[in-house]
Formats: sequence, structure tokens, C-alpha cells
Amino acid sequence: MSSLLTMTPAKSLQGEISLPGDKSISHRAIILASIARGISVIRGWQKGKDCLATLSALKMMGIEAREEKDELIIKGRGLTGLKEPTDILNCENSGTTMRLLTGLLSAQGFYSVLSGDSSLRTRPMRRVISPLERMGAKIFGRKDGQFPPLSIIGSSLKGIDYSLPIASAQVKSCLLLAGLHSRGTTSITEPYRSRDHTERMLKFLGVNLEIDNLTVKVEGGASLIGKQIYVPGDISAAAFFIGGGTIIKGSQVKILNVGLNPTRRGFIDVLLQMGADIRVRNLRERCGEEIGDIEIRGGATLEGTLIRGEMIPRVIDEIPILAVVACFARGKTVIKDAAELRVKETDRIKAIATELCKMGAKVEEKKDGIIIEGTGKLKGCQCQSYKDHRIAMALIIAGLTAEGKTEIVAPECIETSFPGFEDTLRKVVRD
Ligand code: S3P
Repeated sequence: MSSLLTMTPAKSLQGEISLPGDKSISHRAIILASIARGISVIRGWQKGKDCLATLSALKMMGIEAREEKDELIIKGRGLTGLKEPTDILNCENSGTTMRLLTGLLSAQGFYSVLSGDSSLRTRPMRRVISPLERMGAKIFGRKDGQFPPLSIIGSSLKGIDYSLPIASAQVKSCLLLAGLHSRGTTSITEPYRSRDHTERMLKFLGVNLEIDNLTVKVEGGASLIGKQIYVPGDISAAAFFIGGGTIIKGSQVKILNVGLNPTRRGFIDVLLQMGADIRVRNLRERCGEEIGDIEIRGGATLEGTLIRGEMIPRVIDEIPILAVVACFARGKTVIKDAAELRVKETDRIKAIATELCKMGAKVEEKKDGIIIEGTGKLKGCQCQSYKDHRIAMALIIAGLTAEGKTEIVAPECIETSFPGFEDTLRKVVRD
């Protein structure tokens, strides 16, 4: 039987919080430290289920890793030091684990199999397999390689020039990892810029990447040097507190040490454009990533807005909470060019539109997005999480603003990306 989380209206959100490390950066730190030479110490890494799946896969390939407080110490084995895993690598719910490891494993001198939970086994993998096959990879999956489990016969790869049909950091990072292990140059061009944590971390670990606008090139054989890597707080986790703090009048929240990479801070930019009262303080750089503190005050008058095109990859994971915020803006908020949301952990367009409509919002589902007409209120009801962490957290914030009681079914999926979410929320909720 699924568990149930009950939310009641909050008067305001108050206080200063720090959040778990960035999920995307943690995955990359674990993978890149494993193929670097020497020891890396990863500070502030995120221990959510997705990142633990990446760590466990690398341990199964001979990587020694040990935890000390909030540090993860990894003994890198270099580009060719991984060992054949003797069992299936379970990527659980994590698309990032599966797609990045597929790039890495395509070029190893051994056989491997990647699988995951029932959601991951329905997510599209052709997008990584097609370019990898052009590089010489041998990968097999269900329905002609569309779906996991994926079975990989490690092969010798050659660099290619590839233009991504969609902006995807997972595909780009997969090809960069394959490119590091290939003969010659791998050149990847995106239609819009997606998150660039892999590029930044590769540079930080000593790889000479060439980046020109939307194209990134990597030479095969470059070596990575193990280092101290600091992981900033996750902006995608912060988004729930930024969104909640914005729509709940009287709120005053400060979030410390949040990653503010420009390819990730679209949510803040969109909310500012809508009229939110958000300030970034103490902006600085650490290990090649921008970090800062964020202050939010609630109750500003919000105006609906249009979100499309190159903004989409910058807010892609924040669209569920953005839809909740848009319910409290004046007029319409239109989100388009976001069909990718349909192939995330669940169909997030359908999930958020369905659940917000149940809460009395005016939300229209489109093929590639959502239209939300702000009504300024929601009413409590029983909502489904669809076992999707970001849907669950968005609905929990919605529940804090709704009249009456809101129940969220199966909230345990939040462990995927935000261990301790409920405790952090309880710290700031005033009721
Ligand atoms: C991620 C990239 C994005 C994002 C996902 C994490 C990453 O996916 O939605 O949550 O860490 O590279 P796509 O590459 O499929 O857009």
C-alpha cells in the first residue's frame, strides 16, 4: 500500500536553509572522479537514490569509494581502469545514470547491461544509441534499442560530428564521455544550450575542451586529474522553496550556497520576469561553477508570462513548480516547446495539469506544454505523485497554499533527488 502525506495551509515560510548537493553535478563528480587519475574528494555530494545508483554502478566496476561525513572519497582508475561488472547495473529511476554510463561503457573493453525501474524502462534511449552507433558502439535494447534494459558490447570508438536534434545535457554528456575514449575529435552541437556541468567539470579536472557557442569538441585520450570537488546546493531543490516563498504571503526565506550556473537558473529568471521578489547575494565561483545565496520574500504581484524556446532547457526540471506558481499570477502563463516533459520520470505535462485541475486550477494541457490561467487559489484534495519526485514536491508546495487538506499519495519518490525534503520544509513552514 502507498503512503500518504497530508498538507495543510501554511501562514508563511520563514528561515534560512541549506539544501542537498546538486544532483546533476553529483552524478558527474562520481563518474569523472572514477575515470580520473588519483584521488578525488567530493564535498557536499547528494545522497539521493539517483546518485547512489551511479555510485553503486561504479563500485561494481571496481571503483573504490568511501564516505566521510559529507565527503565522498574516490580512487580514480583512469580512462581504461574500469572492470567488467559481474551483474546488471541497476540505474533505478535515473535517466542521467543510464544515459551517461551508456556513453562511458560503449568504449570499455568489456560487456555490460544497464537496467532500471519500471519508469526508466519506458524512457527513450535511441537518442543516445544512434550517435553512439555512428561512433562504432554495439548496444542492444528492447524495441530496436529504444528502451532499456541495454546490453553493451564495449568497442573501439571513433570521434564524430553530431548535431543534437533536441537540447539534452544527458545526450551531450554521454557523447562527451564516449568521445574521451574515442580516436580523434568528437564534436557535439546543440540547438539550444543545455546544462553544461560536464564541460565545466572536465575543464576543472584538466581536460582541454574547445567550446564555441553551441558546439563542444573533445579529443580522445585526454586524461583527467583527481581533485577536491565542491558540489553546490541543488537549484532544482531550491526551486520548491523559491516558488513556495514567492506565492505564500509574508514569507521570508534565505537559501545558502545554491548552484547558480546560468544554464540552470532559468526558474529564477522567469520568476523575476513575472514580478517575484528574489535577490541573489554573495555570488561567487567554486570549482568552475557559480554559487550564491538566494533571498525570497512572498506576496509580490505576479504577472503571467510566456516560456518557450531556449528558455526551456534552462527551466526543464522546474516546470511542475512553475505551473503551481503560475496559478497565483495574473493572467495566462504559456509554456511551449516543452514536449520533452512527456518523457521524464513520468509525463509531467499530463501529471501536473491533471493534479492542478483537481485542485481547482485552470490548466490546459497542450501537446508541447501547458497553459495556466491564474486564479489565485487552489483547493485541497487527494493528489497522485505518479512516483515522480518533482511532481510530488510541486504538489506539496501547492498543498501549503490550498484551502483545506491536501493529500499526496506515494511521496516516498522524493528520496530520488531530495533526501530530507520533509524535514527541511517543516523547518520553514509557519502555520
Ligand atoms: C539532466 C539533464 C536533463 C534533466 C535531468 C538531469 C542531467 O535531462 O531534465 O533531470 O543531469 O544531465 P535531458 O538531458 O533529458 O534534458
